[in-house]
Amino acid sequence: MGEGDAIDAEALTEEARRILIENDRGGYTVPSARLYPFQWNWDSVFAAVGWAEFDRDRAWREIDTLLEAQWPSGMLPHIVFWTEESTYFPGPDVWCADRGGTSSSGISQPPVAATVIRRLSEAGGEVSERRFDAIDRWHRWWHTARDPEGRGVMAVVHPWESGRDNLPDWDRPLCAVDISGVGGYSRRDLDVVDQAMRPHKADYDRYLALVQFGVANDWDDERIALGSPFRVADPGVTAILLRAERDLAWMGRTLGRDVTVIEERIARLETGFEQFWNPAAGTYCSFDLLTGAMAEAGTSASFLAPYAGVTDHLDELVDELTAWSERCRFLVPSFDPRHDAFEPLRYWRGPVWSMVNFLIATGLREVGHCHWAERIRSDTRALIGRSGMPESFDPVDGGPVGGPRFTWTAAMWLAWAGRM
Ligand code: DGY
Repeated sequence: MGEGDAIDAEALTEEARRILIENDRGGYTVPSARLYPFQWNWDSVFAAVGWAEFDRDRAWREIDTLLEAQWPSGMLPHIVFWTEESTYFPGPDVWCADRGGTSSSGISQPPVAATVIRRLSEAGGEVSERRFDAIDRWHRWWHTARDPEGRGVMAVVHPWESGRDNLPDWDRPLCAVDISGVGGYSRRDLDVVDQAMRPHKADYDRYLALVQFGVANDWDDERIALGSPFRVADPGVTAILLRAERDLAWMGRTLGRDVTVIEERIARLETGFEQFWNPAAGTYCSFDLLTGAMAEAGTSASFLAPYAGVTDHLDELVDELTAWSERCRFLVPSFDPRHDAFEPLRYWRGPVWSMVNFLIATGLREVGHCHWAERIRSDTRALIGRSGMPESFDPVDGGPVGGPRFTWTAAMWLAWAGRM
């Protein structure tokens, strides 16, 4: 019995449902009412995992609403601005990107959708041709727009595209971003969340400079691939895509489609993934595609290799997880807790994220590390029991971090951490 078992699971399940219902905007679920008042790509897909626990149709609607915002290029944007809201910055007027028939951001986010569509389908839903085609186009977009050289690793051209905004990995590559044209702006995130839990202004200046670069280049994939001052190969996005490609191939086979091209993409990613292995760090690390420099420490995404079906360095990864567990009461911190840049409260520089835990634990269970998978699930359960359903958690003392009443934490309780 973990400490999470002293909790009132039924009350938390009620609370989790209430959070999803409260954050429902009819067809999509906002991540957290004031902090993120639009549809976010991977947030929404995790929301579907939660909805499926008590309203299957609503779960499918969540995915379908996201697919409606697909760009002609196949890109699925990271934010879809279905409504006008003044509580978020940078809004549609800054992004100037409306290629999908509605305003959106101009970058994407980790492609978890195929994996969740498979999950919903296996639980008795339909694998539709329309969904298969949309996701196939999105995956193809990743390969052409974010890996034009065919190296088998996905670049992110903005820290927000990784979903892990202020990871220490991005610090050095971001130094190359010129912020002289950024000008003045007013952040809205700090109206809702303590500054100590959010990225610094120096990061935001660079986030905005990269948005301005995209706007100046008309969000043209080729120009961005050739000229973006920030191009970093990300093991997080790559692992999630590799898993998603396997699940897309499953969907294709179920529909009787030819999946040869998907299998080729899978093979390229499988071979490519080894480029993330950093022998000096003993784990998988991101690397700067402009300079070749590797990040020097692991992140929670390093543990996504098993989820991607990559088992080459399993023993080393388990050693690494063991070492992290000796530093932090709660697994899995977003960044190596032994490193100087680790900050237990600051967004992606330390806090534990429930949905990343879910992905890591899924992979570890699949490769037979059931003890670690269960440890990660019971830590997540204990965190929610102790701190409710905030955006993320302090890995050291288990306290709540970031925005309140958070959709993906509620969803992860319903579908995973809250289940016995
Ligand atoms: C934010 O605004 O903090 C988001 O993470 C961007 O996607």
